[in-house]
Amino acid sequence: MRLDKFISQNLGCTRKETKQLLRQKLIEVDGSTLCTANQQVDESNHITFRGRTLHTPGPLYFMLNKPEGVICATKDSRHPTVLDLLDEPRVQTLHPVGRLDIDTTGLVLLTNDGQWSHGVTSPKRHKIKRYRAHLAEPLIEGVEKKFAAGIMLKGEHKRTLPAQLKRITATEVELSIAEGRYHQVKRMFAAMENAVIALHRLSIGPLNLDSELPEGHYRPLNRHEIESLR
Ligand code: URA
Repeated sequence: MRLDKFISQNLGCTRKETKQLLRQKLIEVDGSTLCTANQQVDESNHITFRGRTLHTPGPLYFMLNKPEGVICATKDSRHPTVLDLLDEPRVQTLHPVGRLDIDTTGLVLLTNDGQWSHGVTSPKRHKIKRYRAHLAEPLIEGVEKKFAAGIMLKGEHKRTLPAQLKRITATEVELSIAEGRYHQVKRMFAAMENAVIALHRLSIGPLNLDSELPEGHYRPLNRHEIESLR
């Protein structure tokens, strides 16, 4: 890993701030301050900041209960992002795993482990995502079968994979889908001449949104939860 990346991940500072620390000779690699931002370092190097040893930082994994009005991105000029909700020293190393629309609430995973994140979102893995949707119109009879058979979305040429629709009330459903196409849930109901008025993600694969987590709050994933999605 590059020295500047190691330092910014470890101290939670930007690459620009890291360069300043190097210029101020506050960083030592193997006892020398003659180090450069782009030099490669690994566990065999002894790296210090103001004399304190910096250890190779491990990957981070969180679940967030996303509120409305927040976007799944690392930066945005107009809206708060999911990263703005995290009070973590290494927050700028994190990214959201997949996306929810700005008006969708519920389970969002965040990590700085690119390989894990790819495993969760890869279309080949078909991880089931479960949503609770409130609909504008009552559900018509037999629509569950249409979802199970796959739906042709407007502008696409391939049906969606079989999806499981569970009726909760006439206008409230739980939908489980194995893909993550653009605005997929809203477009599936639009294809049925209905509309989603509120959407909430309940789970990704075996991982459920923690029912103790209020909107806008987050917590680290435990080892079992991390492994369950690998
Ligand atoms: N499907 C949608 O339409 N929106 C989301 O945010 C997630 C799935």
